[in-house]
Amino acid sequence: MEHNWWQNAVVYQVYPRSFKDSTGDGIGDLNGIIEKLNYLEALGVNILWLSPVYKSPMDDNGYDISDYQDIAPEFGTLEDMARLIREADLRGIKIMMDLVVNHTSDEHPWFQSAKQSKDSPYRDYYIFRPPTFEIKTPEDIEKAVPSDIGSIFSGSAWAYNEATQDYYFHLFSKRQPDLNWENPAVADEIHHMMNWWLDKGIAGFRMDVIDLIGKEIDQKIIGNGPRLHHLLKDMHNATFGCEGRHTVTVGETWGATPEIAKLYSKPEEKELSMVFQFEHVTAFHDPELGKWRSRAVNFNELKTIFAKWQTELANDGWNSLFWNNHDLPRVVSKYGNDTTEAHRIASAKMLATMIHFMKGTPYIYQGEELGMTNIRFDHLSDYKDIETLNAYTAHVPSDLSHDDMMAGIYADGRDNARTPMQWSSAPYGGFTDGTPWIGTNPNYATINAEACLNDEDSIFYYYQKLIHARKTEPAIVYGDFEWLCQEAEQLFIYKRGYKGESFLVLLNHSDAQVTLPNSLINLNPDWIYFLGNYPETIQPLSYLRPYEALVFKQTL
Ligand code: GLC
Repeated sequence: MEHNWWQNAVVYQVYPRSFKDSTGDGIGDLNGIIEKLNYLEALGVNILWLSPVYKSPMDDNGYDISDYQDIAPEFGTLEDMARLIREADLRGIKIMMDLVVNHTSDEHPWFQSAKQSKDSPYRDYYIFRPPTFEIKTPEDIEKAVPSDIGSIFSGSAWAYNEATQDYYFHLFSKRQPDLNWENPAVADEIHHMMNWWLDKGIAGFRMDVIDLIGKEIDQKIIGNGPRLHHLLKDMHNATFGCEGRHTVTVGETWGATPEIAKLYSKPEEKELSMVFQFEHVTAFHDPELGKWRSRAVNFNELKTIFAKWQTELANDGWNSLFWNNHDLPRVVSKYGNDTTEAHRIASAKMLATMIHFMKGTPYIYQGEELGMTNIRFDHLSDYKDIETLNAYTAHVPSDLSHDDMMAGIYADGRDNARTPMQWSSAPYGGFTDGTPWIGTNPNYATINAEACLNDEDSIFYYYQKLIHARKTEPAIVYGDFEWLCQEAEQLFIYKRGYKGESFLVLLNHSDAQVTLPNSLINLNPDWIYFLGNYPETIQPLSYLRPYEALVFKQTL
């Protein structure tokens, strides 16, 4: 596969609401991000994925857009956005915007018009269906829904629209009506808007739940619908794939298998640069209650999943590598160990090593580079996330007790990722001079950027080394992947090789000391130490310490 600029790039995701507040209103903003660009430059990342900053009533924190060509006032203005693009560019950082086009906000003018009359020119921009029988009483509303499709945010996916006495479709909240991608006018509007942003100098898009836009409601097909790939090819041709654009695109595709991921990301398919697949997340979800009753992570299953994706996409398509985003729990709490400081730091570095040495483009979510942890708020009312709050109402007490639901929220709720970025030990972690829109994790007193920047062994500097390594070592980016010593239960050992250079990655994913397999004890002296998360290596090497990560390099 021909090499592309985004393959040895490292992406950093900013959730603007929680990153840095420059005005004291308790909500992060664009000027706050600009203030911290030097920090991101020091880390070394070169793409900044910005969660939505468009105008929005914020029912789902901006994933409900009411104007695609304006900025939410709490985040700033279009001028601030232009400045962010310029200032980032000066530091070698390109901006990737979030493209949320499966749905709009109910406050978008298209929907405002569509819901008023069946004759609205925007009526067919959305998905309306009649009741299954004539509605005579208020109780009938729930019963006459066009189908039993459920919303991802709980309850029915159909909401009754009084004015036209029918229902509209929403896969997420009632305030996020789905766009009708069967209508070519919708695609035209969206393409136009995408080009408008690309012309402003952004480098590409992260595409929100993009695998849902090919849905066929009446056939009850939601994800990976039959028209999906045609729609993406059209989008590619009309927007980011145009001559002269050097863009990067990543689709959020919860339902992707390796075969499907190749359809999206093989260059000759002319669709996307890469996709996010979530097998390492959903593998531990409950078949019925999903993440609200997830089971503990089994690292041996996890290794099999990662190795499968590395192997399957070895020659075709391209992987994205991530543990975290604004919807997922903090990596160190979920997959590592945050019960002691030593384990938190070692496991955060080990988990970072695990994915940053794989083939694909790595993504870092704000605060991951500090080892930020999950939050446990005492009261449900401290939680802000609509998915969490709706799920609580839907499941308690019918399927889960209050305590079990809270355990699910602590383990996997989305607000784990959304507490304010911890900049310093100042009040609220230095995130705001006001009162933050969501509680701060009290551990900001010790876990914060300032402390990390003052400690040369910090997680921050470890990430900096990993990012630097990708820019300078082609074997990490393009090398073949080989999983070694698969029988070693508490270890993950793999090799990467490319043009006469190889890396050997040794990871201990347990909290105990583990003896190395015989074949690896006393490595050949031509394997040179490259990186590790303990200050000194064991000589001679015969075991790995708790959560140890060690990388060796060999040049032929
Ligand atoms: C994606 C986003 C999530 C959002 C949902 C609806 O999954 O990552 O935050 O709630 O889509 O837009």
